[in-house]
Amino acid sequence: MCGIVGYVGSKQVVPILLDSLKRLEYRGYDSAGIAVQSNGGIKIEKVAGKIKALEAKVAKCELKATSGIGHTRWATHGEPNEINAHPHADCKQRVALVHNGIIENCNVLREMLIREGHTFRSETDTEVLAHLIERFHERGKPLEKAVLGALAMVKGTYGLAVICADEPEKIVAARHGSPLVIGVGKDEYFVASDVPAIMGYTRDVIYMDDGEVAVLTPKGFSAVTSDDQEVIKEIEKITWDLEMAEKGGFPHFMLKEIFEQPQSIRNAMAGRIVPETGEAHLGGVTLTADEIRSISRIVITACGTSWHAGLIGEYMIEEYARIPVEVEYASEFRYRDPLVDPSTVVIVISQSGETADTLAAMREAQHRGAKAIGICNVVGSTIARESDCGTYVHAGPEIGVASTKAFTSQVVVEMLLTMHLARHRFGRFEPGKGIVRALQKLPEQVQGILEKNEEIRQIASEYCSHNNFLYLGRGYNFPVALEGALKLKEISYIHAEGYPAAEMKHGPIALIDDKMPVVVIAVKDSAYEKIMNNVEEVKARGGRILAIATEGDGEIVKKVDHVIYVPVTIPPLTPVLAVIPLQLLAYHIAVMRGCNVDQPRNLAKSVTVE
Ligand code: G6P
Repeated sequence: MCGIVGYVGSKQVVPILLDSLKRLEYRGYDSAGIAVQSNGGIKIEKVAGKIKALEAKVAKCELKATSGIGHTRWATHGEPNEINAHPHADCKQRVALVHNGIIENCNVLREMLIREGHTFRSETDTEVLAHLIERFHERGKPLEKAVLGALAMVKGTYGLAVICADEPEKIVAARHGSPLVIGVGKDEYFVASDVPAIMGYTRDVIYMDDGEVAVLTPKGFSAVTSDDQEVIKEIEKITWDLEMAEKGGFPHFMLKEIFEQPQSIRNAMAGRIVPETGEAHLGGVTLTADEIRSISRIVITACGTSWHAGLIGEYMIEEYARIPVEVEYASEFRYRDPLVDPSTVVIVISQSGETADTLAAMREAQHRGAKAIGICNVVGSTIARESDCGTYVHAGPEIGVASTKAFTSQVVVEMLLTMHLARHRFGRFEPGKGIVRALQKLPEQVQGILEKNEEIRQIASEYCSHNNFLYLGRGYNFPVALEGALKLKEISYIHAEGYPAAEMKHGPIALIDDKMPVVVIAVKDSAYEKIMNNVEEVKARGGRILAIATEGDGEIVKKVDHVIYVPVTIPPLTPVLAVIPLQLLAYHIAVMRGCNVDQPRNLAKSVTVE
């Protein structure tokens, strides 16, 4: 993870770097720093802590410059202190750089460089890059040649921005496995880990591809491949606006994003459903009908919340398209010599489209002959570009570290994909019209649940002091139990476990007492009767129960301590409704416990390291 930024042009660089870094803080926030080119040298300022601390430090020094780089860190190698913060410099502080990624052969390189007389200051893997570039940098030769030489020795992943005191007004950027985008202004260029960082300044962007090295000066932009061949890059226009990436009056991004769900769900299906025929059209899923018919097996791979969405997709596709589906953690799949062949289709789900394990799992599957369908939110992200075909969820920028609106949009898109697959496999798809009707009602229904925010906050106040929670669900709502527990863990640091309700008797039931609240997703679907048995089992042991139930269920209220009602929908879409109260519950509990909701400790939004 980590976020990197850079600017060359005629404006004062420090405010631009700080502003862009703030927009990248979701990528890491344990330390930060900037380096600017000034008076023939390089000035570096770093802090342990957040961008605010860096801003305070920089305000005390008169840093005047028009080109520089910045970094917000999520530590991998070396604890998050000032010395380990980026930018890192070579021995003479003539070269400075910021890096996102991991240099895997850093120990070997460090030993070599120390033998050659280089002196290291930090414990980071990144610092070897600065010394390597120093090693290749001969006066008179352009910096980009030194960067190319250094990178040829490096194993690992990087998004990199480098400056050199000998070449003012120049940034060299390089990408391999970590996202990097160039912003194009008038006689000015930006570089950043993602688009929201720079879209206050420009909407014209160039997405860098792996293996490319770019040179930015106020006069222009050029790029070469790792073997120094020129590449012509296209400028693309960003069509969404900055407001979408700001808080818009909400105290936290997470709450804003929870409340955006009626709209993000609408966007996920806009232009994609045909009510008259009950069909879903996903223009980006370009598999032919023959290809769809010859799929022998689907593997869904993802991490975190996207993996939970994948579990729901498994149930949908098996029920309606009758194709065997397995769901795999990307981090497991990539390393276990998986059985994948050309008749396997891999569905890769990722909000960011940059998660390192998910990307590697996709590449592994493609390498073995499988076709990959990407389901991503971030437009132009690596998974979106490298998948064989795919579809965006169009949830808009998600900044809160705990994923909310991306999840519900992923589930909606999985429903559309299921309809698409079923229709092509069977020639017709009878349940389509009913599914479309249910999909169309979702935004209003979600809005209705959001209006219970105050009621949910009240309930949260009754549960916020507990330190252990159990979440139970069955069928389509077992993944919702996992997701509800994950939300609580992520942002309030409360131990929470999600379980398939019937499995409770094989272990977790031993934990139940009046100190262990149990959140039960007991909506009216085919598992309802069964889950009510599980409710009785909890009650019999003195457990305190909060149920998510379907409107009109008058029975459940007699058996549990609290109920939050959600409207009726078809079973595969119940997760979209049932998860909303759980997102709000986690949010309010975290706020009541004084936790930093948008930037929970130790987590990052986009995990671009394995
Ligand atoms: C991180 C985030 C999670 C997210 C997961 C997968 O752990 O904190 O919210 O679900 O990465 O991210 P992706 O972008 O691939 O969906």
